[in-house]
Amino acid sequence: MPITTTDQKKRVLSGMRPTGKLHLGNYMGALANWVRLQHEYECYFFIADWHALTTDYADPSRIKQNTLDVALDWLAAGLDPERCTIFIQSHVPQHAELHLLFSMLTPLGWLERVPTYKEQMENLTTKDLTTYGFLGYPLLQSADILLYQADYVPVGQDQVAHVELTREVARRFNSMYKSSILSEPESLLTPTPKLPGTDGRKMSKSYGNTIGLSESPMAVATKIHRMSTNGQRMTPSDPGDPDLCPVGDLHKIFSSAEVIAQTQEGCRKASLPCEWCKIEAGHSVVAITDPFHEKRQRYEARIDETWEMLREQSRKAAARAEETMLPVRAAMGITHELGAVRRYFGLTAQEREKLYHLEDCEDWLAVASDQRTIFLRDYWVNNLVSRDARLSQEANRVFTTLEREIEEPYLTAKKKRVLVTAAVEEPDGWHFRIPARSYEIWTLLCWKRPEDDLYDFVLPQNVYAQAFAQAKRLLRKNEQIHLRVRQHGDKWQLQFVDLNRPEVSNGANIAPEVEFIDITEYLRNYRPLL
Ligand code: TRP
Repeated sequence: MPITTTDQKKRVLSGMRPTGKLHLGNYMGALANWVRLQHEYECYFFIADWHALTTDYADPSRIKQNTLDVALDWLAAGLDPERCTIFIQSHVPQHAELHLLFSMLTPLGWLERVPTYKEQMENLTTKDLTTYGFLGYPLLQSADILLYQADYVPVGQDQVAHVELTREVARRFNSMYKSSILSEPESLLTPTPKLPGTDGRKMSKSYGNTIGLSESPMAVATKIHRMSTNGQRMTPSDPGDPDLCPVGDLHKIFSSAEVIAQTQEGCRKASLPCEWCKIEAGHSVVAITDPFHEKRQRYEARIDETWEMLREQSRKAAARAEETMLPVRAAMGITHELGAVRRYFGLTAQEREKLYHLEDCEDWLAVASDQRTIFLRDYWVNNLVSRDARLSQEANRVFTTLEREIEEPYLTAKKKRVLVTAAVEEPDGWHFRIPARSYEIWTLLCWKRPEDDLYDFVLPQNVYAQAFAQAKRLLRKNEQIHLRVRQHGDKWQLQFVDLNRPEVSNGANIAPEVEFIDITEYLRNYRPLL
């Protein structure tokens, strides 16, 4: 069940490894886009310090400082903690917890096949990457993303495979635990202009050719002044080609149309010296970096406050992460609530033994009020209703994904099959999806809030069979048929409705011959233990 928050903004999440101060390439390739996104989406941006350890575990001495360097540059470049959540991955332990849980269900082959895995193994030869943590790198990333139920993940091309893995993990989790807790994210590809470093190659920390995002104007201007022209205009009277010159590329990204036209002409006609062109490029770049430089200095001067702010933001992120962890833990059997298990331990050994042996039970409904069934319902409630249902209150009207088919060990002597489904109350009652086939027993759990009352109905097939068959016929014609339960005075009624027809809200039937079915007598007075 996708968890919705009060405002309906889509969620964006992305992270960076703490590699130290950022450069213009990082800005153009990611950060500038993030700064824009924070105005439109509910954004989570974090520093992936655990990811850094997957390759730098042997020498973690720079991790903390690098983390701060990245955070300071984010703030300097305009990520605003009032508009987005900026945090440190390792301050939100749920990332590690979800990664661990995912590791239980992720096939090794999925991780071995991720393209970055082999590539990095081959390229980073100075490090021993034959570790468990490095193999799990993309799975930790999946946990990062799914923990916040992100809709979009802004990343570069190299990370798309990781988002794809994330989608597969979400699908596997949902199908394995019959849930729809995790929603599949999409990559938001960030277009990256070709940004040259000072030596003309792609700007990259490993080439040592970067221009820092928050360097002083003097430092930026000096670096640009010393830039390579790619061997052009060896003497001032030689004409050049700005399309072949890294300084020309800088202009294209950072300068105004006039300056571009002017410098290109000056280059082609050899009417302006390279010197002049570089000074102009310096001006254009400094116009961007100078405000960052100043802002960064202000944050550095209050480093304790900045750190406290990051910790505060991490607490905010952890609260959101915990919302996801609650149903995830429940799905995997490790909720922190004692729940119905309490009742189980209240039974004697013989009573417990009996719970699983329904062979003597000819008629399911006859046992519907005895100890055994109470136990079963505890189980359903804890597995179908509890956390998901509580969290999904603002979602659209269809709550019927909480369902479980029960065959073992709850089969009766006649091998009856039981379906248990749960729904949360909406203005016109409780809606349930029509299952693919008919069941001998269909249990409907109707959850009412904010009172948190649970009404459960254990319906034998003959109660709903006729209407069900009719509904199935309509379903084949592609109509939106739902089962609806409503409370009418002191009666409870069941009805198959067509969601596409506006008269639904008036309680009209899909077809005149389908009556309301009175199910009041099937209501059990059940008090869940949560
Ligand atoms: N692997 C990403 C990178 O190297 C960093 C990262 C970690 C990330 N977790 C993430 C990016 C989650 C997006 C979403 O750039």
